[in-house]
Amino acid sequence: MDITIGTRSPACLTDIPAPGQADHEQESWQALLTAFANHQLDLPERWAEVFGSLRRGSKENLMVVGQIGQTIDGRIATITGHSKYINGAAGLMHLHRLRALVDAVVVGVGTAIADDPLLTVRLVAGKHPARIVIDPKNRLHADAKIFNADGARRIVITELDQKYPVAAGVEVLRLPTTDGKISPHAILRGLASLGFERILIEGGADTVSRFMQAGCLDRLHVIVAPIIMGSGRAGFSLPAIEHMDQAKRLTVRAHKLDDEVLFDCDLSAQRIVQN
Ligand SMILES: NC(=O)c1ccc[n+]([C@@H]2O[C@H](COP(=O)([O-])OP(=O)(O)OC[C@H]3O[C@@H](n4cnc5c(N)ncnc54)[C@H](OP(=O)(O)O)[C@@H]3O)[C@@H](O)[C@H]2O)c1
Repeated sequence: MDITIGTRSPACLTDIPAPGQADHEQESWQALLTAFANHQLDLPERWAEVFGSLRRGSKENLMVVGQIGQTIDGRIATITGHSKYINGAAGLMHLHRLRALVDAVVVGVGTAIADDPLLTVRLVAGKHPARIVIDPKNRLHADAKIFNADGARRIVITELDQKYPVAAGVEVLRLPTTDGKISPHAILRGLASLGFERILIEGGADTVSRFMQAGCLDRLHVIVAPIIMGSGRAGFSLPAIEHMDQAKRLTVRAHKLDDEVLFDCDLSAQRIVQN
């Protein structure tokens, strides 16, 4: 089904298979994973429109995609920080597909503490990405699930002077801070130096907003669930603007995920490289 949303950009609303997908879907998913590992191969048509843009980035040999799962009224968690689960089965499966297609998943320490996520690929076939937490003040406990030794790389990004006690095998990337903040550009350079090319900024709102504000995202996947929370934490926190013409107007494609809608936002024109 093709529809046009609004008049600004043509968008295609395509059903993406939900859990319980048929065998041929699983085969084409495997073909997609193979094509992501080998740039010479064509992407299966089934997935090209949703995931094709994640294959390669336009800048620095990096592809950086942010994701947010939110309610219709733009909330990503309740006021107490509870967010499991805003998205339904199809939305969660999409998140696992994103994880399977990237080399590394990055979360802020707020999410690591609130959700204690595994950040593994469990709902689809695929390899677990490296798990990376930004924790400049060493707030995360060493037994957080992110640090589970399951074969995936585990990395902490922290301040230059931070003595970060970590379990065996956990890598530490120390970066300079300004007023306690690490530049997202420095984070991307650091991750590139560790060999990563496709990076998912999975949350939370603060972390995704910092990458967005710095011009460090190529794409943003926003999955909107049919929920109105009426209160709670906002999905984005960016500097205040006074006029609508200062707002970011995005080029998007929309895809249906059961009763949720995925907005695939193209931010490549706003992507900034800073040395
Ligand atoms: N719905 C969704 O898609 C989704 C996804 C993920 C999380 N969540 C929810 O979101 C909430 C957590 O989000 P959040 O916005 O509060 O926190 P967050 O983004 O997970 O973590 C923010 C913290 O990470 C550190 N950080 C991140 N980027 C940094 C940088 N560039 N430089 C320095 N420090 C950096 C800072 O730690 P310090 O404060 O120690 O300086 C910052 O306060 C939880 O309730 C979770 O359940 C929802």
